[in-house]
Amino acid sequence: MNRFHNTRSTHEGQAATAASRDARRLLRSLDGLLPEPMLQTVLVVVSGLPGTGKSYFSQRLAQQAPLTVLESDAMRKVLTPSPIHTAKESARLFQAIHEVIDLLLGQRLSVLLDATSLAEAHREPLYRLAERHNAKMMLVLVEAPPQVVRQRLDVRGKTPLRQDHSDADWGVYQRMRPLQEPIKRDHISVDTSGDIEPVVAKVAREIQRWTRQGR
Ligand SMILES: Nc1ncnc2c1ncn2[C@@H]1O[C@H](COP(=O)(O)OP(=O)(O)O)[C@@H](O)[C@H]1O
Ligand SMILES: [Mg+2]
Repeated sequence: MNRFHNTRSTHEGQAATAASRDARRLLRSLDGLLPEPMLQTVLVVVSGLPGTGKSYFSQRLAQQAPLTVLESDAMRKVLTPSPIHTAKESARLFQAIHEVIDLLLGQRLSVLLDATSLAEAHREPLYRLAERHNAKMMLVLVEAPPQVVRQRLDVRGKTPLRQDHSDADWGVYQRMRPLQEPIKRDHISVDTSGDIEPVVAKVAREIQRWTRQGR
């Protein structure tokens, strides 16, 4: 796609100078093919329980819209190769992720965060980041019926050559389920047991419309 070009030097240059060591490591781990800077940016927050299809949805959306995808499970393994998912480990991870979002939005790059973001307390710092950079906030709640999630997580756990970075299994899903808080703000819900493409296309169109303004 001609909208995309390699901005790796920008990421490792300007952005990295003021960044913490963790944030620099995360920035270095990003793919070299990143969207070009735009006057108007978006912060897409893809939220939901493990196995609901956040990463699958995020990848489909990133194929149709100029987004830098930050997958929390992949980033956790950049900072902690053998994660143990303690509160301390997550606090360190999300501090660095928030710093990276701040840097990318500051460079006028649109960002998608693929993370469970189940509690309002997880989402509040993201609302503030979007406001600070005047980025359009788009919240996507990814859902699937529990029996579909269970089957997916079973398959994911048994597949030896897995492409994903999540270690979450059905037990993790069950422990996290009561922690999910309703999203108070405007959001788009997608049930991934059905066809996700109409929602992917709708969100992509909205991003294109917004980011093209003022070009
Ligand atoms: N819309 C979908 N259609 C088919 N398979 C899907 C879909 N969404 C997710 N999956 C599959 O279900 C499993 C869990 O999805 P994933 O995106 O990894 O969930 P999450 O990122 O929310 O933990 C993966 O193996 C993925 O390929
Ligand atoms: Mg995932």
